[in-house]
Amino acid sequence: MKKFGYNVDKTLLFYDVDVSNLFTESMKYDLLKAIRESVQTRFMTFHHDTCRENEDVKSIPAIYCSGLSLSKKIEWLENFYKNQITKVVSTTLDREVKPVNDIGRAITVQVLGHGMRIECHIDTYPTAANLYLKTAPRGGELAISPERNTKGYQNILNEAETLVPLTEMTLGIVHLNNNAHTVTYCWDNVNEEVPLLALPNLDDKNFWAGARIALNFNFDDPLFAESMPSSEERISIYNHIHGGSSKVN
Ligand SMILES: [Fe+2]
Repeated sequence: MKKFGYNVDKTLLFYDVDVSNLFTESMKYDLLKAIRESVQTRFMTFHHDTCRENEDVKSIPAIYCSGLSLSKKIEWLENFYKNQITKVVSTTLDREVKPVNDIGRAITVQVLGHGMRIECHIDTYPTAANLYLKTAPRGGELAISPERNTKGYQNILNEAETLVPLTEMTLGIVHLNNNAHTVTYCWDNVNEEVPLLALPNLDDKNFWAGARIALNFNFDDPLFAESMPSSEERISIYNHIHGGSSKVN
């Protein structure tokens, strides 16, 4: 396990745990197939209070699906999250975190193609873990600002004290609700203002060959009990990520 960077209160920001031994080839295949069949593209806009985009950026292309859609196709996913993934996170943090009961809000899938990036934001959940199922051909980076209120992609990259290289089949355990952050598709994108204008074509095999695919798992964490999101905040962030059109169970 590798560790990167500390917050101002000395909370460790990032733990990188190899979880390749938890997944068989057929589990990986099932996940990738179900993700490909479930994700939706749309232009993401930045009205939510967790956003840290500059005002001149009106929207970026985004590809997401919820744990609810995915778990309908993969029957083992919910139990796997609530048992194996939760156990890895609890063992790594040396305290018992709890899975979020509602699978729709517990898991989000994020896909990036060439030239794309994740919205600049702070997290809603104080403790989360990202499984890097498939990285971009040249890796990809999580850029973490030490500040909560830094706005804008270039500003976050410039301020980032922690640039975490993302590695396939590792679980990145993070505490990022006090740090503005973003994810680049790969290192080539850093310091490059990409014209994020077009939605990717999900029917293009080349898109999927080069896609970066991550599953985000959220947790209830006793160490951050006072900053866990309220039920309204959980619904609000779900609607922000998924466009407000998906039904939450
Ligand atoms: Fe995040």
